[in-house]
Amino acid sequence: MQATRSQFSSKLGFIMAATGSAVGLGNIWGFPTQAASNGGAAFVLVYLALAFCLAYPALMAELFIGRYANANSVNAFKKIAAGSKSRKLGIAIGFYGIIVGSLILGFYSIVAGWMIAYSLETIAYVSQQQDIATWLAEFSTLRNIVFCFLFMLFTILIIADGVQSGIEKWSSRLMPMLVIIILILIAYVLTQKGAIEGLKVYLVPDFSRVMNPKLLINALGQAFFSLSLGVGTMLIYGSYISKNENLPILGGIVTLVDIGVAIIAGLLIIPAMYVALQNGVQIFSSTGQLLSEDTLVFNVLPALFKALGTPGLLFGFAFFCLMVIAALTSSISMLEIAVVYAIENHGIKRKQAAWLAGGIIFIISLVIILNFDPLFGYVITVTTRYSQPLLGLAMCLFAGWVWQRNAMLEEIKQGAAGSEWFWKIWPIYVRYICPILILIMLIHSFSA
Ligand code: TRP
Repeated sequence: MQATRSQFSSKLGFIMAATGSAVGLGNIWGFPTQAASNGGAAFVLVYLALAFCLAYPALMAELFIGRYANANSVNAFKKIAAGSKSRKLGIAIGFYGIIVGSLILGFYSIVAGWMIAYSLETIAYVSQQQDIATWLAEFSTLRNIVFCFLFMLFTILIIADGVQSGIEKWSSRLMPMLVIIILILIAYVLTQKGAIEGLKVYLVPDFSRVMNPKLLINALGQAFFSLSLGVGTMLIYGSYISKNENLPILGGIVTLVDIGVAIIAGLLIIPAMYVALQNGVQIFSSTGQLLSEDTLVFNVLPALFKALGTPGLLFGFAFFCLMVIAALTSSISMLEIAVVYAIENHGIKRKQAAWLAGGIIFIISLVIILNFDPLFGYVITVTTRYSQPLLGLAMCLFAGWVWQRNAMLEEIKQGAAGSEWFWKIWPIYVRYICPILILIMLIHSFSA
């Protein structure tokens, strides 16, 4: 073990890093496209409810466990468990989290690589390099490998620099940029013809869809993914916070910013689709559904950018840069999970650990790229739909049942003077209500 562990330099440093982790492709791509294919505003409403009632308490469980143990996820679960059986289970959960987090980074960096390729494509298009532009925009194994590698390289370089001069510094630089770019883009889209119609689809709910089980499961998965839950990312960021900080408030800010950016991203993407419609781009599938996921981001939007001429292409460039920035502040938090484990439990130096873990995860990405059709969707389903809620459940059970009661109460009161409401509700909530609700959802998603 190291004698002294790194910490974030301040409250703001933590907020930047944790919101940086939370806000990512999940918000800017995942949320709007899910909303588009799940009934617009109905999805938004359900998402809001689940994010506050389930994801926020689960986030708090992770942050508290991390701050209490002041250690990586494997050691943190070990520390909390008193008996030898629960200790073994805890270690297994810690490892499972590291594996799931690494697999998530494996596919995430492929998608982030596409974003780099598409941002360069707009430049190639403007400078009339048609061949290059086509290569950048066309799905090919070589293109996927090159840009996934590039993205992984950025991630490794930041993580190799450590908590304050890597994670905190870059998150603090990139997050404000991200918010500014989104706001400028929204202002532009809303002045275009057709945008208001899109706004209506996004903001007026169809209540008949709210209790649809598929919609509920998708919204829960989206909330867990968006808050980076289950795999240990938030546990580790929690372990870098000082005991004097008011954690319930900080966690609340992270949740609010994460939800806020998702909702704002919807204000950008859904109206943009209807602007595209006005410009002759197809936005509905043959069954009348709004096009979503990759077709939306990689066909509808680029077609729109081109239809709008030079301002549209500038817009496109800014949009894909935004995606890359959002992805980078998230990917570093995923790589950090395996890296701190290697540093603290195997005595490897940070730089070597970053290259080693990053290298292994890049190999995972390569395997996915080379077997794209069978593996890509499969890895996403196994990790985000099943494993993340399962791990979230495990975190709540550990916080609510395994953690010695007094130690837990003492930890949650640390630095949280004035937040009595929280100590009264959360311990009961995380013990009974969260596990039951997550379990119900999981059973549904296995049978769906
Ligand atoms: N939350 C990020 C997003 O919305 C992705 C992310 C970062 C993540 N760390 C994670 C997802 C850990 C799952 C687990 O894009």
